[in-house]
Amino acid sequence: MTKPATRHLITSAIPYINGIKHLGNLVGSQLPADLYARYQRGRGNEVLFLCATDEHGTPAELAAAKAGKPVAEYCAEMYAVQADIAERFGLSFDHFGRSSSEQNKSLTQHFAGALADQGLIEEVEQSQIYSETDGRFLPDRYVEGTCPNCGFEDARGDQCDNCTKQLDPEDLINPRSTVSGATDLEMRATKHLMLRQSAMKDRLSDWISSKSDWPVLTTSIAKKWLHDGDGLQDRGITRDLSWGVPVKRGDADWPGMEGKVFYVWFDAPIEYIACGAEWVDAGKGTDWERWWRTDKGADDVRYTQFMGKDNVPFHTLSFPATIMGSAEPWKLVDYIKSFNYLNYDGGQFSTSRGRGVFMDQALEILPADYWRWWLLSHAPETSDAEFTWEAFQTDVNKDLADVLGNFVSRITKFCRSKFTEAVPTGGEYGEPEHALIADLTTRVARYAELMDAMEVRKSAAELRAIWAAGNEYLQAQAPWSTFKTDPDQAAAQTRLALNLIPLYATLAAPFIPDAAAKMLAGMKIEDAGWPDDVPAAVSQLPAGHVFEVPEVLFAKITDEQREEWAERFAGKRD
Ligand code: 2FM
Ligand code: ZN
Repeated sequence: MTKPATRHLITSAIPYINGIKHLGNLVGSQLPADLYARYQRGRGNEVLFLCATDEHGTPAELAAAKAGKPVAEYCAEMYAVQADIAERFGLSFDHFGRSSSEQNKSLTQHFAGALADQGLIEEVEQSQIYSETDGRFLPDRYVEGTCPNCGFEDARGDQCDNCTKQLDPEDLINPRSTVSGATDLEMRATKHLMLRQSAMKDRLSDWISSKSDWPVLTTSIAKKWLHDGDGLQDRGITRDLSWGVPVKRGDADWPGMEGKVFYVWFDAPIEYIACGAEWVDAGKGTDWERWWRTDKGADDVRYTQFMGKDNVPFHTLSFPATIMGSAEPWKLVDYIKSFNYLNYDGGQFSTSRGRGVFMDQALEILPADYWRWWLLSHAPETSDAEFTWEAFQTDVNKDLADVLGNFVSRITKFCRSKFTEAVPTGGEYGEPEHALIADLTTRVARYAELMDAMEVRKSAAELRAIWAAGNEYLQAQAPWSTFKTDPDQAAAQTRLALNLIPLYATLAAPFIPDAAAKMLAGMKIEDAGWPDDVPAAVSQLPAGHVFEVPEVLFAKITDEQREEWAERFAGKRD
């Protein structure tokens, strides 16, 4: 019996607009989200996979100033760049939106109004850091200094990258302006809105406690900020900036808030929802509320979010506080898959220092599938992981070229030379063939279980084992030797091995979609369907089915290439 299709709403943390992301960013959110979206589609489930650029706040303003461009122009340009790279990496978003969209503006203002109606927004007179030198208030990333929690010296005014603590600029020790480096900073009075997260602490705490199946990385970070120290704090949701969503209470002006905008971390997660509206307005879908409103059909949607660990506090506490506090029937996340950091060759990837490989550079030197495979098979799930060129070369050459690529090439070429480019007739399956099918049946079920559970590295390992089982079968049965004495038996062996290609393509497509497409194209089969029944799946190419030897799937990375790339990416990005 086929199980009824599930509807999966999937979002990846939306990348800041300021520049092209490095591979560490990619493996911490967009790439595993894509893996899961592709897998769920492959299982026949309905998927809405959304991502966007995070365009407001100080990161965008600072980057635009550095580029010498008006911020709106800078964002439009960088959006086009990021959208193009995402597509070339095979990130299969149903829509890639922009947090600066009109849809997000009105939804953000709507949420602020709903929260105010619930008594969850407080107007406060605050003193904030003002720089005489710069002639302005310095919110968030306009200030850097030493983290009061861990002592990290380059903590930003909004969050410490080292310990993930959410900060306010005035928390920093030895603060300095990131605009001018000025240290002659003073506190000045200004009025702001606070989201009364503390009033929702018990509700959030009960909700997090009910998520016993979530990754420990996710719940431990949430619990830390809920219970450590003074517990969950109210959060300022407005800023003295010009770029952003103007502060309004729904459609109405908010007296005293003229000239201010919402804090980027208030409007960014709301963009997940607004992106659904953008998807419809772009003509790609028809009903976004069916995914996002539990009163309009979204109660049977399973919503999964993907993000790096630094984003967890905002997604487990701040955004749920917005959703719950609105008292409106918006869809809350069902599962948060979070990731540790990927380091680069003995240090950290660094956007500011240009250290490591960035998405555009990666695609200049190798096709997306090489990166997708390595990054996902080493996803930093249980601890931080490290990219090294040696490991990359060894693993890619072994897994993709020696195991999968070699299997496909060897059996198709053998068939072409001894039979024709058609699945051969004759012979019968014996004990080794039945044993292989039984082994694959167990492994495919295990693979599906791991993919369902979003166990990324373990799924990759199982997939590798599935490929290896085919190689071992070929190695042991050696149809090229059998052929000399028993061509019929060799035909049966070849038939089974050829039938593994569409199976492998289907299973591998979430990891390496381009290679999977080439495999299916070579075997002249459009969609092999998910192999719920492995014996049936490996009988899809009947005797006589015509194919073409696929082009080489993966070239090996040479020592010269490895050395050249290691040197090229060691220093500053050009
Ligand atoms: O860390 C980041 O790149 C943020 N731009 C993620 C935002 S995710 C969401 F809340 F929108
Ligand atoms: Zn810190």
